[in-house]
Amino acid sequence: MNRTKQLTVAELAMGELVVAGRLVDASNATLFCELELPDGSDEVRKVVYKPISGERPLWDFPDGNLAGREVAAYLLSDFAGFNLVPSTTMRDGPFGPGAVQEWVNIDPEVDVIAFTQSEAPSLRVMALFDFIINNTDRKFGHVLVDYEGALFGCDHGVSFHREFKLRTVIWQFAGLELNSAELGQIEKLLVEFTTLEKMVSPYINSEEITALRLRLESLREEPRFPYPNPNWPAIPWPPV
Ligand SMILES: Nc1ncnc2c1ncn2[C@@H]1O[C@H](COP(=O)(O)OP(=O)(O)OP(=O)(O)O)[C@@H](O)[C@H]1O
Ligand SMILES: [Mg+2]
Repeated sequence: MNRTKQLTVAELAMGELVVAGRLVDASNATLFCELELPDGSDEVRKVVYKPISGERPLWDFPDGNLAGREVAAYLLSDFAGFNLVPSTTMRDGPFGPGAVQEWVNIDPEVDVIAFTQSEAPSLRVMALFDFIINNTDRKFGHVLVDYEGALFGCDHGVSFHREFKLRTVIWQFAGLELNSAELGQIEKLLVEFTTLEKMVSPYINSEEITALRLRLESLREEPRFPYPNPNWPAIPWPPV
């Protein structure tokens, strides 16, 4: 089914969340829900709800919570114009506060493993985004292609660590120079960093915000896609 129109953050924040199921292969409580909006429409709005109360503690992400990092990733993607993360917000739900994200109807005809290893321009954007947010978990299952061919990413709860921990299945651009559009996006994020900082500061700590700025500055100084860190597993496990 095609998406009719993307839900706004304001819409995600209102309406009733009705739990329809649990995503069984997820490691945290990740609930598939329907969002009932008070607009009289009987259109089914599908969302993912990740209550903070259902998170397993992680040794390497002791501060904040995964749901907040999901929201910070959305805010950065939206602010930079990457448009890679489906609308996401923090709100209350049947199991307490959590991240609520619009569900992407993926096109089952797309071979996501082949696509993710391709040189598609949208994947370059994702590779850049993942470096900026320091994503530690870009596996094939977190790459979503919808019926219109639009690319989205999900599961950004383990991002924004202050140490370089990029773990991804998208390494085909390593070493390539950033193009002028990409450089423009980096420049915008740096010039408007104070605004970005205000947006994400409820969700990530000050050291992580400093590290975010340093990653952006490093891209301005050395405008290339990064290579894997030899001291850190470069690919998430399992990669699917
Ligand atoms: N917004 C979304 N739209 C479509 N599918 C999604 C969305 N969010 C999650 N999914 C699907 O649900 C799966 C599980 O969600 P997610 O990876 O976010 O949960 P998780 O609890 O962090 O799981 P894990 O730790 O096992 O990766 C994803 O791999 C993806 O297939
Ligand atoms: Mg996942």
